Amino acid sequence: MTLTDPLEIWKIIAPHYVSIIDQAPHNALYERPAMRSLIGRPQGLNVLDIGCGSGYYLEYLLQSGAASVTGVDGNEYMIDACARRTNNAARLFTADLRQQLPFLQNNQFDLAVASLVLHYLEDWTGLLKELHRVIRPKGNLVISTGHPLSDFAESTSGNYFELELIREEWSSFGVTMPGYRRPFGSLINDFCDAGFRLTRVLEPVPLPEMADVKPKSFEKLNKKPGFICLRFEKVS
Ligand SMILES: C[S@@+](CC[C@H](N)C(=O)[O-])C[C@H]1O[C@@H](n2cnc3c(N)ncnc32)[C@H](O)[C@@H]1O
Repeated sequence: MTLTDPLEIWKIIAPHYVSIIDQAPHNALYERPAMRSLIGRPQGLNVLDIGCGSGYYLEYLLQSGAASVTGVDGNEYMIDACARRTNNAARLFTADLRQQLPFLQNNQFDLAVASLVLHYLEDWTGLLKELHRVIRPKGNLVISTGHPLSDFAESTSGNYFELELIREEWSSFGVTMPGYRRPFGSLINDFCDAGFRLTRVLEPVPLPEMADVKPKSFEKLNKKPGFICLRFEKVS
């Protein structure tokens, strides 16, 4: 049976994901350093983490002086892991990001983070509207997602310009993970249409330490992007 709902697959793999993800080179030595650099100094900020997973960013933000952290994820195992990891210092909600988020108030957050989650949504316009609603004017949104160039390598349609369901083999998890690929133009313009202004684009390369632990990936990611990280400001 092929599962097409990413949340169903996250139910299967959540325990394994939580146990290994902090050591996974693509996260620890590639995506997370890039996201931390775009997040900047979170001291005193009220921060929302959308698709908070095992809670790495919640813990990092708390340890970096955020005034408050709130996490939302559709997987209960992840939310329990976040509660343990933050010693219950985070406000946590189990919710499907394809639905509205009525438990979050208007203009409540200075910063929202969405790390490696948005590509699980076929239609993200509703979530972008919700993020715009809950981020205060001039607040920021920092995201990471698949780079449109590398995602296109997974295309079966061969049509770069279409929104496309792509499937990636996650062999260490024993699953095929579905996700959505978008052309670069709509990736950016959907945020602009929701009332955000792009302020930074980061096409990261891995930390030098990755050369020792995963030399092939290190070489590849220094020549071809895997993820893209973006920072937006709420403007209207
Ligand atoms: C790759 S993990 C990223 C976790 C975390 N942001 C990090 O970088 O460590 C993706 C997360 O998105 C969540 N997710 C995927 N689709 C979702 C949806 N429709 N609603 C809520 N959460 C979702 C999964 O449960 C999972 O925790």
